[in-house]
Amino acid sequence: MADLRNATAELHRSLYGCEPQGVHGAAGRVNLIGEHTDYNDGFVLPTPIDRHVWVSASPGAGDRVRAHAADMGDRAEFRLGSIGRDPEHPWSDYIRGVAKVLSGEGHRLTGADMVVHGDVPIGAGLSSSAAILVASLRAFASLNRINIAPEAAAHLARRAENEFVGVQCGIMDQFVASLGEHGKALFIDCRSYEHRHVELPRGYRVVVVNTMKSRDLASSAYNERRLQCMEAVQIIGKREAGVASLRDVSPGMLVKHWAELPPVIQRRTRHVVTENQRVQESLELLSDGDVEAFGELMYDSHESLHHDYEVSCRELDVLVDATQDMRGVAGARMTGAGFGGCTVNLVEDDHVERFTGAITEKYFRSTAKRAEVYVA
Ligand code: GLA
Repeated sequence: MADLRNATAELHRSLYGCEPQGVHGAAGRVNLIGEHTDYNDGFVLPTPIDRHVWVSASPGAGDRVRAHAADMGDRAEFRLGSIGRDPEHPWSDYIRGVAKVLSGEGHRLTGADMVVHGDVPIGAGLSSSAAILVASLRAFASLNRINIAPEAAAHLARRAENEFVGVQCGIMDQFVASLGEHGKALFIDCRSYEHRHVELPRGYRVVVVNTMKSRDLASSAYNERRLQCMEAVQIIGKREAGVASLRDVSPGMLVKHWAELPPVIQRRTRHVVTENQRVQESLELLSDGDVEAFGELMYDSHESLHHDYEVSCRELDVLVDATQDMRGVAGARMTGAGFGGCTVNLVEDDHVERFTGAITEKYFRSTAKRAEVYVA
């Protein structure tokens, strides 16, 4: 972590001939449980991973922002007076979006020279985008001496992604990138934004396994799921007072209105309602130290995402199934939006090495693909 931060500063010196005024980082994340619940005003339990995006900054000329993406060997440049998206350098849209949102809030920004450097795998469902948003927000804030509280930073970063980049994500990723603490999970109530840090089980490691499958379908399918959830709210909300989102639908209400919902909507709704329950149950189990029972909920969550929400894929299923008979694994599930990306596994300390070897081997035998493993 310190190495990458130093490398970012070093690159800044050699590219711009000056010391960066600061190097700001934000971590990627993995979600332990609570998937596709954030945009339904529900509950999530992500944790930061030990991989970061770093952004260095020093004052630039006039209102010019120059950014260098070290990992892509690419550069982009824009003026603060006229910020638009840049299809040729899409990675720079995150920086542009943050600058635009901050300016829109009435902050006068000065030009900046920046270097972006990170080790959060891109497109793997580990929120490299939230990490670059939050890191560049921290960089602009520090350069312009703007004081932004972490929760406000999360909301601004999300606005940059929703309004400027054009991805209709929920709040989970930006929230944990801004407020997460290493070695702890972050419980978030995505309606009230009430949150608290949760101890991870002792003697276990959070192990992330990357399918290395690109998530081609992810954005259209994601938006489709959002619309299906809204449809469910419309139907149930006509019959039940106070149903503003799927968060408000109790298991009893779901049973009562089951027959009124089209079959696909039945399953989507069942996922969200049961997943919210699983997150709440998880908090109790984790505070009681009942890791085995929590692990079972991870498997249940995966099954629900596979069958009811239909956002898993063969590669993710292979990885989760492969853990069923492995010793030392409490639980496993797909994590993030789905259709590729990663699984999250809770593995006993002493079994991590054996797990890593076994899972990559089984995965290769079934898919002819090489999985990557990151131990948090
Ligand atoms: C993506 C989005 C999040 C969340 C997850 C699914 O990571 O950015 O807001 O909706 O998918 O849980």
